[in-house]
Amino acid sequence: MQLFKALLSQLLACAAVLGIHTLFPLPISVWQAAAMQACLAALCSRGFRQPVWWLPIHLLFIPTVLLGLSWQVPAWLYLLILLLLTLLFWGTVKGDVPLFLSSSAVSDTLIEIVQSEGAQTFVDIGAGLATVVVPLAKARQDMAVVALERAPLPWLLATWRCRNLTNVRVGRSSFWEQDLREFDVVFAFLSPLVMTKIGEKIRREMRAGCLFVSSSFPIPNSEPESVIELNDRRKTKLYCYRIGRF
Ligand SMILES: C[S@@+](CC[C@H](N)C(=O)[O-])C[C@H]1O[C@@H](n2cnc3c(N)ncnc32)[C@H](O)[C@@H]1O
Repeated sequence: MQLFKALLSQLLACAAVLGIHTLFPLPISVWQAAAMQACLAALCSRGFRQPVWWLPIHLLFIPTVLLGLSWQVPAWLYLLILLLLTLLFWGTVKGDVPLFLSSSAVSDTLIEIVQSEGAQTFVDIGAGLATVVVPLAKARQDMAVVALERAPLPWLLATWRCRNLTNVRVGRSSFWEQDLREFDVVFAFLSPLVMTKIGEKIRREMRAGCLFVSSSFPIPNSEPESVIELNDRRKTKLYCYRIGRF
């Protein structure tokens, strides 16, 4: 659906620029026309209520194609870039959460949280490049850590980064298929779009007294036990939910 909306936004913006140019032949350069198309595509995307991370894609798409044409980039390079982006962002076109990474302040705080919880098991549902999992597993070598990542390239990099950490298991599966019962602390840095469903899943599966920590996105209509505000670049907030009490 998202891919269809993206294509439609691009096509509508192209049609609008061509239409305007036919009706009012302005002396504008191809780059100015591309800039106009990019802005219109971004506007259409917002109109279609695409998630906000589509904006840079719409703004850069046609200008990048033009750049490629003017630099006479070989055709196989487009295919390679497309392949890499697909492996990196895998489910994003279907509306899944894209890859963006937590700061070191997040992993430092999670280390403190698992210590104070006395956690023996931890999972990052959507582990990306294992940015959180690696420092955590190093700091708590007695704790069993699971990293779940569905996109192939991040999963491969996470597996490589965790290759010497015997207390980590990196799984290339969707967290929706993982039973969360076995974990003392569950961490997620996902998207507002999935938080209601995540809330239902953790209520259903996690054991009473365990802790769910969501970076940046709260569970709608649920009261967290605490909210930790970090002093990193994004001013990240960690929403902590005690299972059985929210
Ligand atoms: C915002 S990134 C967070 C990465 C990492 N947890 C961190 O904090 O740095 C979200 C990650 O979740 C992954 N993801 C999205 N949906 C998923 C799913 N259903 N199962 C497993 N991973 C998923 C994405 O591929 C992406 O790498």
